[in-house]
Parts: sequence; C-alpha cells; structure tokens
Amino acid sequence: MEKIKFLKKSDIPFKDEGNGLQRGEMLPGSMEGVSTYRCILKAGSKIHPEKESQRLHVFFFISGTGRIVTPKKTFEITERCVFCPRMDEQDYTFEADTELVYLQLVQTLSEKDKANFEKYHIVLPWFNTLSNWHIYVEGFRDEALRTYSVLPQYYVSRMSLGEVVGPGEARLEPHSHPELYQWFCALPGTDPFHFRADDEEVEVNEGDWICIPNNAEHIVLTDPEKHIDYIWFEMVVPGMECCPFYDFQ
Ligand SMILES: [Fe+2]
Repeated sequence: MEKIKFLKKSDIPFKDEGNGLQRGEMLPGSMEGVSTYRCILKAGSKIHPEKESQRLHVFFFISGTGRIVTPKKTFEITERCVFCPRMDEQDYTFEADTELVYLQLVQTLSEKDKANFEKYHIVLPWFNTLSNWHIYVEGFRDEALRTYSVLPQYYVSRMSLGEVVGPGEARLEPHSHPELYQWFCALPGTDPFHFRADDEEVEVNEGDWICIPNNAEHIVLTDPEKHIDYIWFEMVVPGMECCPFYDFQ
C-alpha cells in the first residue's frame, strides 16, 4: 500500500522501558518530525516522562486510572483525557492506579514552529477530559455521529486531536485535507470498521493505527448496525498553516 500506512495492535513493537512502562513506536517515519507511540504503564507504577525542550508532546489516555502530577497541579485520570505538558516545566509524573494505556504523540519543532509557538499557543499544561470535550459539526458527516474536539487546531503548534463516536448507519462522505497528515486509532468499544484512502482499504480493529498523507481522499466505512469509536490526530504540513496569529508563510 502506498497511501495507507497501517499497523495492527498485535504488531506494535513494545519495548520494556523500565519502571513498569512498555512503549512501542508506531509507524516511524510516516511524516518528518513526527513520532507516535503506544504506551502501557503497569498498575502501581510511576514514571517521569523524558525531559525535552525541542519537541512538543500530546498524551492521550485511552484507559485506566491514575493521575498526572505537575509542580502546580494534579490532574486525576478517571476517564479518557488529553494532557500537553509545558516544555519548560518537564518535572511531571504519571502515576497508574490501574493499568494506564495511552498514546504519546510528538512533534519536533523547527525554528519556524518555535517562532509561531511563541506567537500563539494555549496556556500549558493543557488537560481536558471526555466529559468536557465539545462537539463540532462537519458537513460531510451526519450529526448522529458525535465528533469531539479534544485538542483544537493551533492550541499546540501544528497538532490537533479529536474523537468520533456513534452509530454505523450515520452518513459519511469521502473527503480530503490538502494541509493535513492524519493518524487514526480505533478505541476500546468500537466495532471493526473499514478505512479507505484513494483505492486502498484496510479493516481496522481496536488498537490499530493508521497514517495517511495530505490529499488522500478517505472515508470510514461501517455496517449500519455497528458502533464506531476512534480518534484522529492531525499535523499541518509545514508552510500550510492557516492560523491568524502566525506569520503568513
Ligand atoms: Fe478526514
């Protein structure tokens, strides 16, 4: 396949990183400057994520309970949630009460990214939970399918994240994004669905990971009686940013 990069959950190359953390890099090299990992933190474990100043992180907690402890505030993990740390306040800890499963999504900052980040970003750390995600509407999707904005565009540089959940009979139409690379992860509770990009198609099950480049026409295909639940992660192609607070490229 040329358009769809696809990694089954069972093929994620987990490595033991110590302190109860298993981490597997998914589809490395899919887009320059982007790294994506699936992580499992054992119940009762505690880790300090690595200190970095040149990369931005989004952590999406899929399942499990625990907390994120930062110098000023503690965020309780009781449901799906997203956390973006401050780059200059890396002294934070993840604590797992039950097994925590999460995605670590990373953007390496170019000089241009750094300049734009200084012009505009949400105050970090950013923490948001399923109960507080807001619903948005897109014309190519039926409103019966709930589409949540988890990390809105340009809050944290070129990254954004959302969740789609609802009945399989909801109307969907193929579409493409000229400025976005996209990744997709099927979440617990979803039925299997098919993902098509241009003339390629894969069956997607819970935990599988997909990447498509910008301009690929894509659609999620489901059986009417099924239920789907997945997240998308997006990254704007450098030079194609459309943020009023950024320099025009
Ligand atoms: Fe899309």
